[in-house]
Amino acid sequence: MAEIGTDITTAKLLLDAGELVAIPTETVYGLACNALDAGAAAKIFAVKNRPEFDPLIIHVPDLQHARLYVSAVPEKAKLLAENFWPGPLTLVLQKRALIPDLVSAGLDTVGVRCPDHLLTQKLLRALTYPLAAPSANPFGYVSPTAATHVNDQLGSKIDYILDGGASTIGLESTIIGFEGDVPVVYRLGGLALEQIQNVIGEVTLMPHSSSNPRAPGQLKSHYSPAIPLVTGDIKMLMHQHHGLRFGILSFKHDYNSTPQIILSESGSLHEAARNLFSALRQFDEMDIELIIAEYVPDTGLGLAINDRLRRASTRRS
Ligand code: TXA
Ligand code: MG
Repeated sequence: MAEIGTDITTAKLLLDAGELVAIPTETVYGLACNALDAGAAAKIFAVKNRPEFDPLIIHVPDLQHARLYVSAVPEKAKLLAENFWPGPLTLVLQKRALIPDLVSAGLDTVGVRCPDHLLTQKLLRALTYPLAAPSANPFGYVSPTAATHVNDQLGSKIDYILDGGASTIGLESTIIGFEGDVPVVYRLGGLALEQIQNVIGEVTLMPHSSSNPRAPGQLKSHYSPAIPLVTGDIKMLMHQHHGLRFGILSFKHDYNSTPQIILSESGSLHEAARNLFSALRQFDEMDIELIIAEYVPDTGLGLAINDRLRRASTRRS
């Protein structure tokens, strides 16, 4: 198992040596390495069992540092960074040549994110390079929102997990890029669409394209727990699956059934987002055959929560 601790110096020494370290962020935990070192990045793909066509995003302490790795920052990207960095937003921008092709999976763009987490900000400021970091889970599985989640799945493959507590947002970052002048959302996430639109106006939504997955986070079957998950009206589904051992994943209602996890009794979408991934992990530990889940309201973070539920419910072939 990996060592779990809060020592930035230990993390820095490993990263400087081209090793991997799991890092906390406000969205989910990342599996990090020196983003300028292709050899280190190759280890990420191996440890996650991630296909090399799936690009990594890089993490920087602020917009000024981002400019070292991208060749241009369009006006709307600058506005977004000024308003929402540090925070749960990844900007896809034209990359500079120093970003290895392996990191960008051969694309001429790179995703850049500035995480809003004290420990990771301190670490980033202590380094002379950005950190490439996908979510710290095996490819296709639910993202980790706690150090123990990372240890459970990747602990035997990495040396150190920087423990920054539970992720306060609990959903991956919202990813936005620019096609010509048009802002395009590639992944719904921890920054609500309404907030983005308030700053730059209308955006195009392209979070679903299994024929041409620009971002494999767009693949329909992603973010999946191991136990099958169905979504819909919980009472109807309970009736329909009578006889099966199922768990109930509810937004705020108590369905008087065990096992049951209520995402937010007060009906808060932020609380629901924070609890979603650990709820899916808890169900995976239980002796059940099916997870019965309901969608949450389609506003604010609800869009991203529903997106993850939809993808989790697509059975892998
Ligand atoms: O919140 C997050 O974004 C977390 C934390 C650790 O920062 N990271 C994360 O990374 O979720 P990952 O690799 O699990 O998801 C990033 C997504 C992938 O689906 C990838 O395909 C997409 O971003 N992506 C990366 N570079 C891209 C690019 N140049 N254009 C379009 N999509 C890109
Ligand atoms: Mg991921």
